[in-house]
Amino acid sequence: MTTFRTMPADGGPLRVVVVGAGPMGRRWLPTVQESPEVDLAGIVDLDVPLAQAAAAELGVPDLPVGADLAAVAAASDAQAIIDATAPPAHLPVTVQALELGLPVLGEKPLAATLAEALHLVAAAERSGELFMVSQNYRYNTGLLRFREHARALGPLGVVTAEFFKTLHKRQVHEVMDHPLLLEMAIHTFDTARFLLDAEPVAVYCTKYNPSWSWFRGEAVATAIFEMTGGVRFVYTGSFCSPGLETSWNSAWRVSGERGSACWDGDAPPRLEVATSDSVGEVPAVATPAPANSIAGALAEFVHALRTGTTPMCEVHDNVLSLAMVEACVLSASTGRRVDLNEVLESAHATAVAKAEDDVRDVLRSWTSVSAALSPHRCTPPTEPLEVR
Ligand SMILES: NC(=O)c1ccc[n+]([C@@H]2O[C@H](COP(=O)([O-])OP(=O)(O)OC[C@H]3O[C@@H](n4cnc5c(N)ncnc54)[C@H](O)[C@@H]3O)[C@@H](O)[C@H]2O)c1
Repeated sequence: MTTFRTMPADGGPLRVVVVGAGPMGRRWLPTVQESPEVDLAGIVDLDVPLAQAAAAELGVPDLPVGADLAAVAAASDAQAIIDATAPPAHLPVTVQALELGLPVLGEKPLAATLAEALHLVAAAERSGELFMVSQNYRYNTGLLRFREHARALGPLGVVTAEFFKTLHKRQVHEVMDHPLLLEMAIHTFDTARFLLDAEPVAVYCTKYNPSWSWFRGEAVATAIFEMTGGVRFVYTGSFCSPGLETSWNSAWRVSGERGSACWDGDAPPRLEVATSDSVGEVPAVATPAPANSIAGALAEFVHALRTGTTPMCEVHDNVLSLAMVEACVLSASTGRRVDLNEVLESAHATAVAKAEDDVRDVLRSWTSVSAALSPHRCTPPTEPLEVR
């Protein structure tokens, strides 16, 4: 349970500034405009003409825009921000917003590094404002149904996720250090935590580039996670895999004592329960229309601010999804099994060394990272989430 400043409903929509008018910001802007629960109050981007063009495209050319978040927030009487900047900007943008008294709904990954993520946990605690990460892949009716199926299987043994895509279009990924793990696998790792309601304990990972890869950083990885409760989560992903591509959601299989469930990430998931007296395929239940993923995250953010309910992916909770990425990177570079506590404590030491004043005091007050994070762990609902 996390406490943060709430904004009880006053009959009006929440006034939101979108920071970052790149491709992801351009997905957020119409989502904000279409939601009755929020009002688009302004747009911030270091590239001001880009922010102006985005406002003009939305039909609101007079909207407050600029490169300075404080100025746009003041001019627009903002109540919250959505941070759709690139990962290196997540720390400075979020810290500035929290210091301005603005709650933040940030894009994944939480930050560019785990040390920066822990800095942001401390900054959010110090400010008393809500910082939630939008892990939009959680807001998907197929996944919610698959999660129900997984719960029908009794104790689980192993879960696999396969992700195979050919990513040519984004040059930014082609020069990143960890394009697959930091940009994409973070979604799948976070989904595994949600699906299993379990946390990562340790990982062995290998990552590499096949001979035809056009990426600088490794675009292929396989990771075997030990999760709490003993279940193993096995991930294989590739960004340079032409033919028979999987869904962006990955292709999943869950194997439990009573049976198995599969989900290709697009079609309704399948469940086969096998017991001593019955073996049968349970017909897939019709699912509602595909959910608009970031609209689900936005709705949960507003609901949290209105009610004080800790949302999924509140910053404390989301740290472990990024820790899975960093543990994979360490395992792949050292060739050994990595305990998640090792990367958390190492990131904490880095964060303490870099932080100043109040944030450093908060970080130093933690007896251990897992002790600091676990009281805030949000238990995902066992009932299906409402997906719009
Ligand atoms: N959830 C998803 O499905 C999904 C999909 C794609 C990208 N993303 C995430 O969204 C984020 C943005 O992705 P993108 O592809 O749009 O990135 P991008 O780098 O193409 O665009 C980011 C924009 O932010 C602006 N910016 C950078 N620093 C800023 C700062 N300090 N203040 C104001 N503006 C700043 C840049 O000028 C740029 O216009 C990333 O974290 C990415 O991982 C999420």
